[in-house]
Amino acid sequence: MKIYVPCDSAAKALGADAVAAEIQAQAAARGIDITLVRNGTRGMIWLEPLVEVEGPNGRIAYGPMTPADVPHLFGDETECDCYLGLTDDLDWMRRQTRLTFARCGVIDPLSIDDYRAHGGFAGLQRALGMGAEAIVDEVKQSGLRGRGGAGFPTGIKWDTVRLAHAPKKYIVCNADEGDSGTFADRMIMEGDPFSLIEGMIIAGLGVGADKGYVYLRSEYPDAIATMTRAVELARVAGVLGASVLGQGSAFDIEIRAGAGAYVCGEETSLLNSLEGRRGIVRAKPPLPALEGFLGRPTVVNNVISLATVPVIFEKGAAHYADFGLGRSRGTMPIQIAGNVARGGLFETAFGMPLGDLVNDIGGGTASGRPVKAVQVGGPLGAYMAPDKFDTPFGYEEFDAKDALIGHAGVVVFDEGADMLGLARFAMEFCAVESCGKCTPCRIGAVRGVETIDRIASGDASAVPLLRDLCDTMRDGSLCALGGFTPFPVMSALNAFPEEFAAQTQEAAE
Ligand SMILES: Cc1cc2nc3c(=O)[nH]c(=O)nc-3n(C[C@H](O)[C@H](O)[C@H](O)COP(=O)(O)O)c2cc1C
Ligand code: SF4
Repeated sequence: MKIYVPCDSAAKALGADAVAAEIQAQAAARGIDITLVRNGTRGMIWLEPLVEVEGPNGRIAYGPMTPADVPHLFGDETECDCYLGLTDDLDWMRRQTRLTFARCGVIDPLSIDDYRAHGGFAGLQRALGMGAEAIVDEVKQSGLRGRGGAGFPTGIKWDTVRLAHAPKKYIVCNADEGDSGTFADRMIMEGDPFSLIEGMIIAGLGVGADKGYVYLRSEYPDAIATMTRAVELARVAGVLGASVLGQGSAFDIEIRAGAGAYVCGEETSLLNSLEGRRGIVRAKPPLPALEGFLGRPTVVNNVISLATVPVIFEKGAAHYADFGLGRSRGTMPIQIAGNVARGGLFETAFGMPLGDLVNDIGGGTASGRPVKAVQVGGPLGAYMAPDKFDTPFGYEEFDAKDALIGHAGVVVFDEGADMLGLARFAMEFCAVESCGKCTPCRIGAVRGVETIDRIASGDASAVPLLRDLCDTMRDGSLCALGGFTPFPVMSALNAFPEEFAAQTQEAAE
């Protein structure tokens, strides 16, 4: 009997370890021989711990499971509300296009054999037979754009590094995942770590780098442990090391833990931190692609960008590019969180309207009250009210609505949300997290908090001041922390002006 219990940290936080221990105990007590696999999560977080039992027609899902439900797995005649049927038949699973996350939740994350059996290293094998230019061209053809937030075409970035002349080049994976409501990077590192390793090796082959770093946030201890072990196993298996898959090219990876600063997710700040310096933003130019880690040409890519590379090489660029909308090609792992009935990771081709994601896939709010707004793209993302729910999920489509998709986190708020309070929070967050290098952000965010406090205390003259301040921060900041903080602030003000006016009215009365 083969039973799967996720070791993903979200599942563990919801009691997966206790369920796994009870399964072992009950099996031993009944003399039943079981194989217990600790897989990654399928992404249906509201159903975690989601236990699966291998059956003749596929895996049968049970969730959310408690230790008290365990006897049901062994056929006891107990009532069990957590029986869900075949995992692959669940609506949430059926409606996805899983390319990047195809193996996540399916395999044992630390089994190279399992990884291979599910298509792992097929992309790398193909890349090893191509030249550097052809590798980079393949990525260009796929239309892949950076999943870390800026959406920059990955192939063009790689080409800049490939064409740079230098004795040493680097691949740096940005695993800082600081955006609120996002967890795709963590999920894949805990559930399918070899896909990231494979993607980084292909990047190395494409640009001529033999060394990679994963800069991983310290708040992800499970991901750090899984990635560290996966790198060790890949070395033992000859996937990493002096001769990748025995075919002559060298590549190795080091895992580095960050110290917990949001701005260290910004690529130049990250590079400073990786070099052991203070995490402060560097002025561009020079681009990291030309002068990055230790002054050498460096690819800095997000976890999902890199973990998507293997499937592009396995199935071909055209297959990947076939999905999507406009200039947003392929699929996006969308993370639905906040006050939502069904929170989790849903990978789908670009193009699904935002409202479908929130109401249909996410099931509306957890509180049952109407949705007031969603914040898409992390703490620097705009608040989008239901009148924008027809916006298709795509880079340009969101841009046209003064919004951004960022790392594709969608955080849902119900009608009780205090939009002035959320606007204040955005400024406060920027003030706390600012690296301090430029004035519009360092001073502007502090003034922003004060200005919103003036509005809250009834000073209507502070509203135009807030607009001016947002313009200054947007146009004058050195990086997107100060430059994009106006998005949540202005979107809250523009979509819910009455809440800002009501404050001034109330105070006047
Ligand atoms: C304040 C700030 C925080 C950021 N945080 C992250 C992060 O946590 N993860 C990430 O991949 N990119 C983050 N970025 C974007 C990176 O600077 C960079 O664009 C990205 O790592 C490039 O990889 P990609 O092209 O694969 O997206 C952040 C940017 C800013 C301005
Ligand atoms: S915008 Fe803020 S975080 Fe970015 S460089 Fe300026 S002070 Fe630093």
